[in-house]
Amino acid sequence: MSFDLLVRNANLPDGRTGIDIACWDGRIAAVEQDITAEAKETIDAGGLLVSPPFVDSHFHMDATLSLGLPRMNRSGTLLEGIALWGELKEILTVEAVVERALKYCDLAVSQGLLAIRTHVDVCDDRLTGVKGLLEVRDKVRDYIDLQLVAFPQDGLYRSANAEKNLLAALDMGVDIVGGIPHFERTMEHGARSVARLCEIAAERGLMVDLHCDETDDPMSRHIETLALETQRLGLQGRVAGSHLTSMHSMDNYYVSKLLPLIAEAEIHAIANPLINITLQGRHDSYPKRRGQTRVPELRSHGVNVAFGHDCVMDPWYSMGSGDMLEVASMGLHVAQMTSRDDIRYCFDCVTSHPARAMGLEGYGLQTGCKADFVLLQARDTIEAIRLKATRLKVVKGGKVIASTPARTARLDLAGRPVSVDPAGYAPKES
Ligand code: FE2
Repeated sequence: MSFDLLVRNANLPDGRTGIDIACWDGRIAAVEQDITAEAKETIDAGGLLVSPPFVDSHFHMDATLSLGLPRMNRSGTLLEGIALWGELKEILTVEAVVERALKYCDLAVSQGLLAIRTHVDVCDDRLTGVKGLLEVRDKVRDYIDLQLVAFPQDGLYRSANAEKNLLAALDMGVDIVGGIPHFERTMEHGARSVARLCEIAAERGLMVDLHCDETDDPMSRHIETLALETQRLGLQGRVAGSHLTSMHSMDNYYVSKLLPLIAEAEIHAIANPLINITLQGRHDSYPKRRGQTRVPELRSHGVNVAFGHDCVMDPWYSMGSGDMLEVASMGLHVAQMTSRDDIRYCFDCVTSHPARAMGLEGYGLQTGCKADFVLLQARDTIEAIRLKATRLKVVKGGKVIASTPARTARLDLAGRPVSVDPAGYAPKES
């Protein structure tokens, strides 16, 4: 038997070491020590980490890499970002959306990011973003799983043609129903929008992913309605609540009642640490709230939590590089999740957890899974986050589709040559 690809001596995210991974016909054929069979291509992992691909379950690809168009966000607030995006939408073209999105997809692949759920704004009667990203989804199909969410950015009821456009986008092939209840004119309109959007999803057999309570207002409780509607319509496991930042500011007693409700409804919680640590608390003096949703508490209630990138160089966020390890790093800092177990959990928040939220088939490193994975310049998941480790090889369907040289500094210290490998500092594990 000759495999297509054999990776030797890999460490895996679950802590196993010295593992070989054999790939055949696009799938993982074996994951065990000392595989003796031959392969057309062999990679020596040298005791470094092989992980399933990074997954971003919350992104805005129609806006990415548009920073500065038509002007910069001066206040840095969410609301100026939305207003600025409104100005850009007027002059957007399908070609420009496609060009920027494909450029981002190349960056994503180089970072081992091979599955992305992107929201696409449908509050534009021309549906420019929808047309552009449907084209991109086809173009990148062989190397990125791209899911599209029909997102009424300006509000389902607040924007004149939002519902008509959302339904049209779904008819055109957009995968998931989106929404933004906290941006509707009143709490009541917000709650109604949640119910209506869940009904649309139930009628069409689709998933739901709402921007939900992305505000510091502790009374923004649309997640409660989302959980209840999910149960009423039998959508358990198919619904995600993105951001959920109002939970940061809510009364503790109320949250103690809310958390079990979210868990019962099997809602996936998607936090976006990079963007929300910059956007939330903008109306506070001091102390300033961090605004991130309650990740450790959601975890302890058994809720599936993922971290999304949300934005890269767009009207809301001027930073970002498609690096999900940067996202995981910010998430653990903001949530103060610094135990060894917590840090490993944050790695899962940018790999297996978002894969579950997106319902990705064949994701993982078990026999029978798709032969998609990343070799990192780190020995374990904690080191990978700490170093934002270099993606040495990115493998898709058993083929290497991206390579980056290892990061090694060469020093000349008073005639003493030294090589510094950033992945060379092991802690004493107790
Ligand atoms: Fe978002």
